[in-house]
Amino acid sequence: MTATLVFGAQWGDEGKGKIIDLLAAEADLIVRFSGGNNAGHTVVVGDKKYALHLIPSGILREGAVNYLGGGVVIDLWHLRQEIQGLRDLGVTVTPGENLFLSQCAHLILPYHREEDRIREELRGSGKIGTTGRGIGPAYQDRASRSGLRMGDLLDPVYLGERLSAVMLEKNRFLRGFGHAGMDPADLLAELLEIAEELRPAICDTGGIVRRALKDEKSRVLFEGAQGLLLDVDLGTYPYVTSTSVATGGLGGGAAVPPQSIQRVLGVAKSYTTRVGEGPFPTELDDQVGEHLREKGREFGTTTGRPRRCGWFDLVAMSYTVEVCGAQELALTKLDVLSGSKSIQVATHYELDGRTYEEFPAGLPGLDRVQVRYEELPGWEEELSDIRKFEDLPSKAQDYIQYLESKLPVRLSLIAVGPDRDQIIRRPS
Ligand code: IMP
Repeated sequence: MTATLVFGAQWGDEGKGKIIDLLAAEADLIVRFSGGNNAGHTVVVGDKKYALHLIPSGILREGAVNYLGGGVVIDLWHLRQEIQGLRDLGVTVTPGENLFLSQCAHLILPYHREEDRIREELRGSGKIGTTGRGIGPAYQDRASRSGLRMGDLLDPVYLGERLSAVMLEKNRFLRGFGHAGMDPADLLAELLEIAEELRPAICDTGGIVRRALKDEKSRVLFEGAQGLLLDVDLGTYPYVTSTSVATGGLGGGAAVPPQSIQRVLGVAKSYTTRVGEGPFPTELDDQVGEHLREKGREFGTTTGRPRRCGWFDLVAMSYTVEVCGAQELALTKLDVLSGSKSIQVATHYELDGRTYEEFPAGLPGLDRVQVRYEELPGWEEELSDIRKFEDLPSKAQDYIQYLESKLPVRLSLIAVGPDRDQIIRRPS
């Protein structure tokens, strides 16, 4: 058995979709364990572009079986749409054959989306900048024991009773903010209608994955969503998502022992981006940032929002790879840096007379730190057609080797374009 965990090593949008798609070619099971349709994974295959939000990127590989573990929150309306979208592009999605959904996964219901919107409005200038998908409220209900789960869909009477009980409070909240409220009977009918096709897929995914982990021949890929700096405990709280996005969320979210994982691979962009609010020490609020946004097409897959752009941050990266125990990093979008005269890399922060070489997660002044950079020479050449490390311009090789010298990981994959084939492999 081989088990690999892929996680985002920045603030999400690192290009995990492309890397997972690549590794999925050598995997039998692909398992998502946290988040919901706040995620956005883009995979380009030839002239087709797939934007995945909830369904693991392994769905694009024939023979791979995809699982949404109990730590995922599922919006059935969105799932139906995503399945249809994939089918329209010629992808086979067969619930119960190549897609399975944990009976423990919580449902995102329409009132969660409304709640997300209302709570963001109430936060005013302190808003998080959520994706508006109802993620936070659904996890909030999970923690407060008011959630409904995929397994409940298999027992309509129980589901109806739970929905009526929970919605008494939900409707009181919604009406308090001028919303007309929602009818539990209507919601029940809609849920059951959408769930019909999904019934064969609802099962104990944890048990299946654990059995696979015991089988010598099976290859399991755990697909992290978001990025470690958005982790509810380890990230830039409160400007984070509501889950443990990497190693921390794996045990509960996929129902597997964490020691099952042999290979931990982080994905990082060659620079840094962030969507939504919150501290971003290396953010570039100038023409260079604008250039990265345009050249890197840095607009959210999920919300279309322009992403904030900045330089690569070694302080943050050392933290994320260390806290997840990563042995390898996949560096994406190296091609976007072509044409930059020089490239800056953050080496440490300073704040109120103190120097920080370790990422000070939880430091209230993180938005005020002075960032210290090392400047490296850039290169002009375009990289999109390069497939071998030795063929990269020497300055690009120097950049990779510089990062490797500063991080406790090997940069084993380097992406030079969005297409599946635009990758440089660096075997150990
Ligand atoms: P939520 O997950 O919708 O509650 O949003 C919380 C924060 O996480 C916001 O700043 C979002 O922009 C950010 N976020 C959530 N999912 C992703 C993702 O997949 N990529 C990048 N940012 C994300």
